[in-house]
Amino acid sequence: MEFRNRNLVLSLLFLSLHVLPSLSFTFFSPVDNHLVNCGSATDATVDNRRFVADGSHRSKTPFCHWDSSVSLRNDNALSDSPKLYDSARVFRKPSKYEFEIREKGTHMVRFHFHNLNSSKFDSIDAQFHILIDDFVALSNFSTGNSFSPMIKEYLISINSDKLVIRFLPSETTKFAFVNAIEVISAPKDLVPETAQFVNPEKVENFDGLKNQALEVVYRVNVGGPKVTPFNDTLWRTWLPDDEHLESSFGSERVYFSGRIKYQTGGPSREIGPDNVYKTARLIHSRNSSIPSLNITWGFSVTKGYKYLVRMHFCDIASISLELLFFNVYVNGNLVYKDLDLSEVTGWMLASPYYADFVVDQSYSDVLSVSVGPSNNSLAYAIDGILNGVEIMKLNNSMGSLDGSDCAGFVLGRWPQRGGGILIPLIAAALLVLSLSIVLRRRFTFGGQESAAVAWSKLPVDVSEINAKHGG
Ligand SMILES: *[C@@H]1O[C@H](CO)[C@@H](O)[C@H](O)[C@H]1NC(C)=O
Ligand SMILES: *[C@@H]1O[C@H](CO)[C@@H](O)[C@H](O)[C@H]1NC(C)=O
Ligand SMILES: *[C@@H]1O[C@H](CO)[C@@H](O)[C@H](O)[C@H]1NC(C)=O
Ligand SMILES: *[C@@H]1O[C@H](CO)[C@@H](O)[C@H](O)[C@H]1NC(C)=O
Ligand SMILES: *[C@@H]1O[C@H](CO)[C@@H](O)[C@H](O)[C@H]1NC(C)=O
Ligand SMILES: *[C@@H]1O[C@H](CO)[C@@H](O)[C@H](O)[C@H]1NC(C)=O
Ligand SMILES: *[C@@H]1O[C@H](CO)[C@@H](O)[C@H](O)[C@H]1NC(C)=O
Repeated sequence: MEFRNRNLVLSLLFLSLHVLPSLSFTFFSPVDNHLVNCGSATDATVDNRRFVADGSHRSKTPFCHWDSSVSLRNDNALSDSPKLYDSARVFRKPSKYEFEIREKGTHMVRFHFHNLNSSKFDSIDAQFHILIDDFVALSNFSTGNSFSPMIKEYLISINSDKLVIRFLPSETTKFAFVNAIEVISAPKDLVPETAQFVNPEKVENFDGLKNQALEVVYRVNVGGPKVTPFNDTLWRTWLPDDEHLESSFGSERVYFSGRIKYQTGGPSREIGPDNVYKTARLIHSRNSSIPSLNITWGFSVTKGYKYLVRMHFCDIASISLELLFFNVYVNGNLVYKDLDLSEVTGWMLASPYYADFVVDQSYSDVLSVSVGPSNNSLAYAIDGILNGVEIMKLNNSMGSLDGSDCAGFVLGRWPQRGGGILIPLIAAALLVLSLSIVLRRRFTFGGQESAAVAWSKLPVDVSEINAKHGG
């Protein structure tokens, strides 16, 4: 990171000397850290992270297992577009990647997609399923007409020494593709074992969260700008909250220029980075009456799943301890009464705190969270605050995050090869032979760089790319 201003560096140094003893400063370095640049013959370095090519030379990298995949190279890529999107691997048949896992437990899995526009592959025909071990992550997925890169992120607990990721075209006429894959061990406390289950009737817990497959559906930096992987300890992306704000009348945004005080035993930078805790939206009473209002955010979700809601708080606005008391609601249910951030952070301002809730969205496709004044709120003070929200979908009882088919069923839909009868076998062999002759002229197999198929220039969001390389 570059600092524009030498004084800023000095003041940061000065500050850090003062608060150092009470803070934790360990940097996270994942045991498992597989970054794959799919369909490419050359590695790509993005934000100092090296994505290894899966198609270098004729010998495949150990984690790739495919029969007939094609590597696509974007010859018309804009010079400043992220290198990950210059290539893709296309699968016409069920294929898999296998990753060696050295540390059991929760892992982050990310897939990067950027729509192909190639003369050989029509993106309309990209429709596929992705299985992560025994979970269905995506089913009949297609990237639509989106011109900007799409990232799908999952949190999966792995209890064996390998992780298998399968790509299956929805039908024989369709294909699957991916531009990049990340498989990274997550910090131990990223997914808790238990969270409060939001139930209007009674207080109860949801147990066994670590055994669920989670899909991150929203990750929002309340009151602040987009936070890019460059500025996040776990290379996450946090988006601004504006489009989710339902009622913000009377609320204010706040930006804190001081230092966020991470404490041992409290949330670490891996739970939420500085840039998330440094901004918030709040309710501020400036006279003798406490405003009667809530700030509410709404998120559209897929009905029929449970969701884990993580709310991030950090009192970056009060002038002193013990002035901020407020209520927290999820789907209109009071989940935290008279939340006192001073108390839960061990009486330290600008120190982060977070709370997890599980909600059942069986009957509603809107998930809402609100903060508002409580009976203990004070006049001339802050009466409600929120710094960030994360919403993660839990797999359903079929072990799926996308639809009602279980992994075994999705796999079984693909006909077995050969079938034990000679004639279909010969027919298939002939077909493969003739196909491969046709294909060899057009595409590259197993990632031979020289014959990579070009796809035409795609408009990319230049401002985002610049942001990634700036700072
Ligand atoms: C306090 O300020 C709010 C707006 O900030 C205003 O609507 C309200 O009438 C004021 N109340 C009093 C008692 O002055
Ligand atoms: C805030 O929201 C909760 C839950 O929906 C509701 O019970 C409460 O009345 C609201 N408060 C105000 C002032 O609107
Ligand atoms: C606030 O106080 C009123 C009156 O004492 C009470 O009826 C209400 O339940 C309290 N609200 C909360 C959220 O505790
Ligand atoms: C998610 O899948 C796991 C393992 O298959 C299962 O034990 C769990 O009950 C599923 N979760 C839900 C909410 O059904
Ligand atoms: C995916 O599409 C296939 C064929 O169109 C259909 O049979 C299947 O039910 C779909 N799966 C889901 C989960 O929508
Ligand atoms: C794809 O490329 C073709 C030819 O290069 C172009 O005419 C077409 O507009 C492109 N489609 C999209 C969706 O960009
Ligand atoms: C990282 O964060 C700093 C400080 O908030 C900001 O100035 C910079 O633009 C960010 N960089 C990127 C690449 O997002």
